[in-house]
Amino acid sequence: MRRKIVAGNWKMNTDVASAKTLLRSIVESVKKSAPAADVIVCPPYIALQEAQSILHDSKVALGAQNLHYEDDGAFTGEISATMLKSVGCKYVIIGHSERRQYFGETDGTVNKRIHKALNHELTPIFCVGETLNERQSGKAFDVIHRQVTGGLENISPENMKRIIIAYEPVWAIGTGQNATPAQAEEVHAYIRTILKELFSDAIAQVISILYGGSVKPENAREIFAQQNVDGGLIGGASLKADNFLAIANAF
Ligand code: PGA
Repeated sequence: MRRKIVAGNWKMNTDVASAKTLLRSIVESVKKSAPAADVIVCPPYIALQEAQSILHDSKVALGAQNLHYEDDGAFTGEISATMLKSVGCKYVIIGHSERRQYFGETDGTVNKRIHKALNHELTPIFCVGETLNERQSGKAFDVIHRQVTGGLENISPENMKRIIIAYEPVWAIGTGQNATPAQAEEVHAYIRTILKELFSDAIAQVISILYGGSVKPENAREIFAQQNVDGGLIGGASLKADNFLAIANAF
């Protein structure tokens, strides 16, 4: 059985005070409702240290939104795997479309970051997804194939088992227009065929593949009911504990 996972990507939202409030409400709600899914939160860097102490002894795991592929050195503004580990991160989002779109992230740099995360025992949440233009011109599957194979270059089968994949169609992120459950299922199933081709059927069947892009309490259940959808990467709706928990309980 694959792990069910709901991860909150807070992006560039909250300050330390509001992050602490949100973290406390999430911990409380998880305690009360005991969701079947594993719950992960990825607050901004400035809140990670506080998050570590608030999440301590809770069922909520901590992740970051990115990491650099070098260990340390002259990389102004970047954050390293060791830094994330030192504040208790277990997960890290890698290759989010906003990083690809606005910060020059490529399949090659995504691949380096995935290797670095794995070397430091951080679980990558590896994001892929096509733009609207790519979908409309019939290239969605080619793009997904390129991103998945590029991002996973030289990953060993053993390490592959430690990776979580998130399919996030760019046209659905923050737009309110989610992929239909059938559209999500189609791409998730396709990602599994790529994993089978790159690794093995056994590996393809155990990897959790999350859907992201305008998931809300109102549409989560239908999306998560798809055979190849194992949970969600949640942006906007993860900034309110009630909404986030409603989604975490939508299995
Ligand atoms: P959204 O973002 O839920 O606000 O669409 C998802 C994401 O970018 O991870």
